[in-house]
Amino acid sequence: MISAEKIPNNVNLSSNKRLQRALEHWQPKYIQWWRDMGPQGFQDYHQVYVRTAISVDPEGWAHFEYVKLPEYRWGIFLADPTPDRRIGFGDFFGQPVWHEVPGEFRNQLRRLIVTQGDTEPASVEQQRLLGQRCPSLYDLRNLFQVNVEEGRHLWAMVYLLHSYFGRDGRDEAEELLERQSGNRDKPRILEAFNEPIDNWLDFFMFTMFTDRDGKSQLMSLSESSLDPLSRTTRFMLTEEAHHMFVGETGIARILERTCELMKQAGYSEDVRKIGGIDIPTIQKHLNQWFSLSLDLHGGEVSSNAASYFANGLKGRAKEDTFDDHVVRDAYYNMEFFEEGRPVTKEVLMRNAMNEVLRDWYVGDCAAGVARWNKILERHGMSDRLRLPDRKFNRHIGMYSGFYFDPNGVPLSKEEFEKRKFEWLPAPTDSEYLLSIMAEPVYEPGKFANYIAPPRRGINQLPINFEYVRTEQ
Ligand SMILES: [Fe+2]
Ligand SMILES: [Fe+2]
Repeated sequence: MISAEKIPNNVNLSSNKRLQRALEHWQPKYIQWWRDMGPQGFQDYHQVYVRTAISVDPEGWAHFEYVKLPEYRWGIFLADPTPDRRIGFGDFFGQPVWHEVPGEFRNQLRRLIVTQGDTEPASVEQQRLLGQRCPSLYDLRNLFQVNVEEGRHLWAMVYLLHSYFGRDGRDEAEELLERQSGNRDKPRILEAFNEPIDNWLDFFMFTMFTDRDGKSQLMSLSESSLDPLSRTTRFMLTEEAHHMFVGETGIARILERTCELMKQAGYSEDVRKIGGIDIPTIQKHLNQWFSLSLDLHGGEVSSNAASYFANGLKGRAKEDTFDDHVVRDAYYNMEFFEEGRPVTKEVLMRNAMNEVLRDWYVGDCAAGVARWNKILERHGMSDRLRLPDRKFNRHIGMYSGFYFDPNGVPLSKEEFEKRKFEWLPAPTDSEYLLSIMAEPVYEPGKFANYIAPPRRGINQLPINFEYVRTEQ
């Protein structure tokens, strides 16, 4: 049964009969999906120490308890309204924001919401086997925290579909549970969400780079003129921050441990011999997930992006830091690739909005990589991690169909194929990673050999707290 107690919310669910009815129909399918496609092997006999959002204020937001995953209370939350909020960009700049969906933008808005919504369950599906290879109970708990929140993000998008898009919205909500990551016939909409994530190096890189694309997208949607979309995504951003924390600190802890092992091995030895993850392997996974996540921002020149901006549906990250919010006759200097060499050309700024968001994203990623390099520096290592050139390994946009090395130097297809495993994870790398992760670590306070313990535990609890416990 649908009740406000089981579904924490600040959208007046208890007095909204229409939403209750829609959810009554959808929620059992969601739970079935979670059981079938969510964390495998951790549905019935485990209790996980997770955070549940029970309200949007800081206290309600940080409510921790042990729960069995299928009993998690997925809720519906909108960030507090901004009084007299005005449209912040595009052709309707300065007008009052919308509380209903304008008919002329209904299809575009639905498409934006469905595309965002589709990524949420997709990531849960991609990560469903990781629990069986976890490096510690602390990490296992973080994985499940990310998973339940991605589930909640799906709820957030379904809330919008159910509340503002009538019959079509209800159909779309069902389809969000029907597409499946990596499925040949019914794949998820975006390519990065069809790639398997079967080891923890991939998981941490995914939460670092692909969840950060989520942050880009949510930031631009939180600028939307459709106020419920803006408020929903604003609250999602608070959760997204934790996902990136999991990714960034996960890699930081691997680097920490790799440095220790390198020292033990007398610097020159291959750390794989003593069960560590070598820096070149880390770099290859960084290359992979960064380039896939660049693709998620869409084509460089995009009339869709221009129209989303003009209509006030999707803005830029931190729109209020720009001077010009209408952007009618501004230009963006874009690097094209023509006849084998780069050529800079002016593009109407509105058509370059994907690239503008990608610029913000690349900057945010670079700051994270700089923090990782501090660890290498502190250990006296000369190795450094770096972001590959944005032309490298692209499958969407104007660089797709061309081949570049991580420095952005053009290559022939043959040369790229011959050398690609110098830059991207090779089957032997994946085999190695699976071999060191074959035995999960379920003992409180213990960590797999390839990763250092975190600095502190969750919610001020000790590192050796039993973050996931097995029911007797
Ligand atoms: Fe999400
Ligand atoms: Fe996320």
